Amino acid sequence: MNKVVAEHQGYLMQATNATIQFGGLRAVDSVNMNIEAGTIVALIGPNGAGKTTFFNLLTGIYTPTEGEILFEGRSVSGKKTHVIADWGISRTFQNIRLFKEMTVLENVMVGRHVRTKSGFFGATFRTPSFRREEKQIQEDAERWLEFVGLIEYANDLASNLPYGAQRRLEIARALATEPKLICLDEPAAGMNESESADLDDLILRIRDELNITVFLIEHDMKVVMNLAEYIYVLDFGKLIAEGLPAEIQSNPAVIEAYLGQDMEAAIKAKRRALLEARGEIAPETTPKPEAAAKDPVMMDSDGVVMVATEDNKEKNDAA
Ligand SMILES: Nc1ncnc2c1ncn2[C@@H]1O[C@H](COP(=O)(O)OP(=O)(O)O)[C@@H](O)[C@H]1O
Ligand SMILES: [Mg+2]
Repeated sequence: MNKVVAEHQGYLMQATNATIQFGGLRAVDSVNMNIEAGTIVALIGPNGAGKTTFFNLLTGIYTPTEGEILFEGRSVSGKKTHVIADWGISRTFQNIRLFKEMTVLENVMVGRHVRTKSGFFGATFRTPSFRREEKQIQEDAERWLEFVGLIEYANDLASNLPYGAQRRLEIARALATEPKLICLDEPAAGMNESESADLDDLILRIRDELNITVFLIEHDMKVVMNLAEYIYVLDFGKLIAEGLPAEIQSNPAVIEAYLGQDMEAAIKAKRRALLEARGEIAPETTPKPEAAAKDPVMMDSDGVVMVATEDNKEKNDAA
């Protein structure tokens, strides 16, 4: 066994010091992350934290400028997106990417073509083996539509589907590549309450029935807390916390990162932490407010975080 494979220690995905720099901005900054096969892992954090960029590193859209991301022990650095897809990583996009002029079924078949064998010759001359393969692809695509609950729309134009169904169609297309790891970028965004409950159910079935590991970026804290077995929190490109859902809910740094309205305080706290780390100032002696440590983070339907502390209640009342 070579060294790299030996070191991945059974993790499906392992990021070590993963970094990408755009000009002066470290959009993903020295991130260490492990995903165990068979788990549902969430990546959360405020807008602009670097979540989608991390997916882009993992799926080969960008190459890390420092550090490394391994999938089953193999480095994704410098690999083409289709190679990584072939290894078994598929994804959906924060902004839905469907072929709007194609039918629902065709959109799923496009996903499956990643794995066709007949190639250009077979497709051009419609050889018997190509036609057999095409038929198989169609049957598989129908199975995926069945799985996500869209089979009755198979022949409709993708653009005619309601929003929540379009998101499920993207998931069907990602499943059609038969991934080991599926990366979902804000799948509940824009969904209503009942669509997002259906989504919870679908994501659980992907893991439980298909045995696919799920890596989930999500703002809807209800979805995250329902589903995720382990959570990583990014802020300004850096991991600021990781842990079990209960730990994350009560983590003061997480609550702070999500309090957009309290940006000034957050920046001050960050600056202080940095100076403390450098030994330029003594550690803060005033304890964090007790309430912040035990109150859960809640997010309303507009994505506004609400932390039910007395402190916030006063702020809200004043506003
Ligand atoms: N190709 C790029 N060039 C320059 N900056 C980028 C690029 N891609 C992302 N960024 C920046 O990286 C930061 C993180 O973005 P993103 O990963 O989309 O955040 P999130 O998904 O957490 O909301 C943002 O400041 C964004 O503007
Ligand atoms: Mg994003």
